[in-house]
Amino acid sequence: MQVPFLDLQTPHRELWPEIRDEFEKAFYSAAFVGGPQVSAFEDEFAAFCKVAGCASVNSGTDAIRLALMAMGIGAGDEVICPAHTFIATSEAISQTGAKPVFVDIDPVTYTVDPACVAKAINSRTRAVIPVHLYGQCADMDVLLEIANKHNLLVLEDACQAHGASYKGRLAGSMGHAAAFSFYPGKNLGACGEAGAVTSNDPQIIRKVKMLRDHGQSQKYYHDTEGYNARMDALQAIVLRAKLKHLAAWNEGRRRCAQLYDQRLGTSPRITIPRVAPGNVHVYHLYVILVENRDALQHELARHGIGTGLHYPLPLHLQKAYNHLGYKEGDLPVTERVARSLLSLPMFPHLTEDQIAYVCDKILSAVEAQR
Ligand SMILES: Cc1ncc(COP(=O)(O)O)c(C=O)c1O
Repeated sequence: MQVPFLDLQTPHRELWPEIRDEFEKAFYSAAFVGGPQVSAFEDEFAAFCKVAGCASVNSGTDAIRLALMAMGIGAGDEVICPAHTFIATSEAISQTGAKPVFVDIDPVTYTVDPACVAKAINSRTRAVIPVHLYGQCADMDVLLEIANKHNLLVLEDACQAHGASYKGRLAGSMGHAAAFSFYPGKNLGACGEAGAVTSNDPQIIRKVKMLRDHGQSQKYYHDTEGYNARMDALQAIVLRAKLKHLAAWNEGRRRCAQLYDQRLGTSPRITIPRVAPGNVHVYHLYVILVENRDALQHELARHGIGTGLHYPLPLHLQKAYNHLGYKEGDLPVTERVARSLLSLPMFPHLTEDQIAYVCDKILSAVEAQR
């Protein structure tokens, strides 16, 4: 049996008739950048996240960068983020001129550890970026309390958490602003690059909309210099069609996770994902911790099973950040997790038989390693 890491073909086949008709209309109307499809998606995504506003952009990375800029972050500022995330989180901080400050993660949820955030605050700290990693929200109440006490801005990196919730509040609705990625493999994915900023602050949304469009407040009147970072209509068409299915697809992911949990949770040699009380996880990724992770990955590949490593080298130890002066041992939980984490096939259309096959192969491989 072959079990891919991700299957986008199946939902795409189901949605094609609806998307094809809308693509055709957009093609003949020639409204490709911005336009009614993009505005409609912004309204629908804001409603989905239960926030006042949404500004679409051309990637999750630019969503983080432009949100930080709209909040006034720049040269001389420090922004705290976890070292266990995709580099886009910290790249976007550097691109504003600010300095990323890496901190450790919670060993249970793999999201940023609020106690480590508190310890990293100094007079230059202006913001913190909790990353709702793998589909589970960071401990937002504690983080917001720390941020309030020190007058810091909070930008949620919700790029992996469309539809996740924390104590009844949705990812993207809790901080001063939030950034989403619609990269094709995300829980809500476009057919190319796309992203969005959500916020309850109309000023942030207004500024992101200006920055994404060369700093224009109206055509050819530029309040500032900006960027070319707009979403195109074809992405909005795909996202609008998929948004209608997102809740059901997230439910499908939770069903798959439950099946994995039942089988893999029986082995003392495997750490399955743990969900913090009050969190609703949307399993963008289903990750386990195992010893001999690389050998297991190799063995699963031999049996036709696709897996991933998220992320094998923590950000504070990347060559790109040599200049920041971190060394091995600085962030022990992050480093331990990076050595033993394996991402298993996870998508809403994964079948029970496929999950059973993956679990059988994992369990026999870890037993054989004893
Ligand atoms: C946690 C996280 N932040 C930021 C990004 C950046 O998003 P994009 O690839 O759309 O620029 C991603 C996506 O890969 C991500 O997973």
